[in-house]
Amino acid sequence: MGDRIKLGMVGGGKDAFIGAVHRIAARIDGEYELVAGALSSTPEKARESGEALGLAPSRIYGDFREMAIRENRIKDGIDAVAIVTPNHMHYPVAREFLRRGIHVICDKPLTATLPDARKLAKVAAESDALFVLTHNYTGYPMVRQAREMVANGELGAIRVVQVEYPQDWLTEAVEQTGTNKQSEWRTDPARSGAGGSTGDIGTHAFNLANFVSGLELEALAADLQSFVPGRRVDDNGHILLRYRGGARGMLWCSQVAPGNENALRLRVYGEKGGLEWAQEDPNYLWFTPFGEPKRLLTRAGAGARDVAGRVSRTPGGHPEGYLEGFANIYAEAARAIRAKMAGEACPAEVVFPTVEDGLAGVAFVDACVRSSARNAAWVKLA
Ligand SMILES: NC(=O)c1ccc[n+]([C@@H]2O[C@H](COP(=O)([O-])OP(=O)(O)OC[C@H]3O[C@@H](n4cnc5c(N)ncnc54)[C@H](O)[C@@H]3O)[C@@H](O)[C@H]2O)c1
Repeated sequence: MGDRIKLGMVGGGKDAFIGAVHRIAARIDGEYELVAGALSSTPEKARESGEALGLAPSRIYGDFREMAIRENRIKDGIDAVAIVTPNHMHYPVAREFLRRGIHVICDKPLTATLPDARKLAKVAAESDALFVLTHNYTGYPMVRQAREMVANGELGAIRVVQVEYPQDWLTEAVEQTGTNKQSEWRTDPARSGAGGSTGDIGTHAFNLANFVSGLELEALAADLQSFVPGRRVDDNGHILLRYRGGARGMLWCSQVAPGNENALRLRVYGEKGGLEWAQEDPNYLWFTPFGEPKRLLTRAGAGARDVAGRVSRTPGGHPEGYLEGFANIYAEAARAIRAKMAGEACPAEVVFPTVEDGLAGVAFVDACVRSSARNAAWVKLA
């Protein structure tokens, strides 16, 4: 394997959510070593968080700019940085590292605003460093297989896409209790962006539908609500989709649907058959060729495909899930980073969400907000 990729992290301090998931994902295949961090918004908490992770004191930073400048100068500075801050900080942080040629692995949505997303796409295009966006659901083996089946024409031309991502954790005004920081910034438009559920989970659903179907969204009509009194961003959205080429779709995202945890589900129907995949049962994929019995395809069982196998780690029947799917994004990023370091082309089978996918996601949120403000009028993606 050679030397581990030296990883830094911005965000992901004590009490943060997704930073810990990134650290696990980075470790699963032994490709990365976390060596530096600006882990929190306050220097004191950043120091405590770095110490708790066993980082060398000289590699614990109170400020991400200081980290980018110093890590770029020192021998054995970081090769890549994971960005796991609230949305409004993705652009300023990513810019500092990309400009210095440090690879970026950033969580979604790409940015809080469309202008920032455009600027970030430009900075990424001008940088020699890679930009990887952790739309982690694209890392699941059966999602990879679904994408291959569509691309192979096994469903025929795609007609209908149904995708939904309901949750229930914002059913009450938890952001007003002062006890849940994840909900506080997510319901603050300045930090989250103009979209609430649309930005937080609608972008995942949008990205997954694009990834599997291979379709490009042309226009949408969005009916967004903030059901919880006082909430400043949407917590529920019903969105009609028109794809280039004529396919139609519907996307539902909600954080106020009691009983739903992370019930991301995708159904795709073509002229010859359909596919159905659910994140909470991710090792299985239903294939429904028209006029034939439904088939349950499994990650590593009879008929398992290479495209799923190359991102699987255990025999069939041993459930792989969220952490392994996340780790697959890190594994793909590692392959791309290693190819870059060796001055070689990235292997063709390596797939990960890019800055362009992130820009499309932010354009999706922007279009939803514009449409909903006009009584769910049809609008084109910017
Ligand atoms: N891919 C996924 O499944 C997934 C899941 C959850 C969250 N996310 C995304 O991850 C990001 C973080 O979400 P979270 O739920 O972990 O939030 P969180 O509030 O739990 O953690 C955010 C962390 O960023 C730190 N931070 C804030 N400003 C900073 C700065 N200027 N410098 C350094 N650190 C700073 C905070 O101190 C905290 O440690 C968001 O963009 C969110 O959309 C993605």
